[in-house]
Amino acid sequence: MKKFTVPLKKSVDDTYDIAIGKNLQDELLSDIQNGLLKGVSKLALVTDSNVSRLYAESMLASLVEAGLQAQLFTFPAGEGSKSRKTKALLEDQLIKNRFGRDSAVIAIGGGVVSDLAGYLAGTFARGIPFINYATTLLAAADASVGGKTAVNTPIATNLIGLFHQPVKVYIDFATWQTLSAREIRCGLAETIKHACLADSDFFSWLEQNITKVLALDGSLVLDDTVCEHIAHKNCEIKYSVVERDERESNLRQVLNLGHTVGRALEALMKYKMLHGEAVSVGLMAQAHLALRFGYIDDNDYQRIESLLENAGLPVRIPSPVNIQKLLDRLYTDKKVRKGKIRFVFQKGIGAMMQFEGGNYSREVTEAEILPTLQALKA
Ligand SMILES: NC(=O)c1ccc[n+]([C@@H]2O[C@H](COP(=O)([O-])OP(=O)(O)OC[C@H]3O[C@@H](n4cnc5c(N)ncnc54)[C@H](O)[C@@H]3O)[C@@H](O)[C@H]2O)c1
Repeated sequence: MKKFTVPLKKSVDDTYDIAIGKNLQDELLSDIQNGLLKGVSKLALVTDSNVSRLYAESMLASLVEAGLQAQLFTFPAGEGSKSRKTKALLEDQLIKNRFGRDSAVIAIGGGVVSDLAGYLAGTFARGIPFINYATTLLAAADASVGGKTAVNTPIATNLIGLFHQPVKVYIDFATWQTLSAREIRCGLAETIKHACLADSDFFSWLEQNITKVLALDGSLVLDDTVCEHIAHKNCEIKYSVVERDERESNLRQVLNLGHTVGRALEALMKYKMLHGEAVSVGLMAQAHLALRFGYIDDNDYQRIESLLENAGLPVRIPSPVNIQKLLDRLYTDKKVRKGKIRFVFQKGIGAMMQFEGGNYSREVTEAEILPTLQALKA
């Protein structure tokens, strides 16, 4: 037998910039003209049916007018499109239109677009570059940054995908003006999560400023300075975690705060409850358990509940939900190890608990979880 070793050591620099501001279409164009996408001669703008009409069609027109080769690929808006089927349809369209290795993808939209288009770019022609142009607060807060891309399958969300970092991210908060108050609230849920897990000053700042995003009557305010600060803080907090643990070997689990119950709840509610709404209830569930375990005090608990309520988010498990079914569903969580449910917990406000062996998650038994779920039932 002969042996041949393939020497293949990798050193990767995936550093990229995030631009935060209003109306960044011109910045995107000048970045491309100034060589952001080296070696790329064709641009595939990927978007959904809502964002196409609102923003992507005009962005395509300005790229084409500037002499760039670009084409728009649109799929129906909604979580249902984040599937292997839509990805295959887009791939076929790209091939038919002669896109190849010298192409790049520009994802224009919310988290569904960035997850799907990022995954498409990561595998098309064995990987082509992609840019994220984020148009929702949730994408700005979470989905467009961090390099996780994926599609859903009928029985699992976000399970099929890869890590593929964008070349640049644009967070255009002028586009938030066309979002519904409900979508803004969902972005605020992830924002509050970030404050809970990493930054007590940001949490206090949100307590003071949340009504400059959404008034207490639910109408949009979207103060520029406040929106910019929220976008910036979200990036800062998410990156302080991602840069230390890109592949989620331990620390990145903390970004899952509130998602153990949140993900189970949204699936059980058949997505009638939006992700951010379910995460809000999930944050309350971990806070309730954390209070019982002594990781936070009663004042912290009240502050978390009030901030979520002032953001117009739900803080109770909707009454039609069967608690036993919710409990059973927790076993599909990605943190489950050896058949045991695990949670990550905040430590007071602005820090995370670390357990035996430095692990950021700990096992929680059904007997421990049940009273919390019962207490939080509406
Ligand atoms: N990859 C990650 O790290 C990560 C993190 C968090 C969430 N996600 C994923 O993100 C998705 C949720 O993100 P989302 O809430 O942005 O969903 P989304 O992309 O479906 O957007 C929500 C709705 O708003 C519409 N929309 C988008 N921008 C708009 C605008 N400016 N004006 C008006 N309407 C607009 C969309 O067409 C859609 O109907 C989920 O699939 C979730 O799994 C991914």
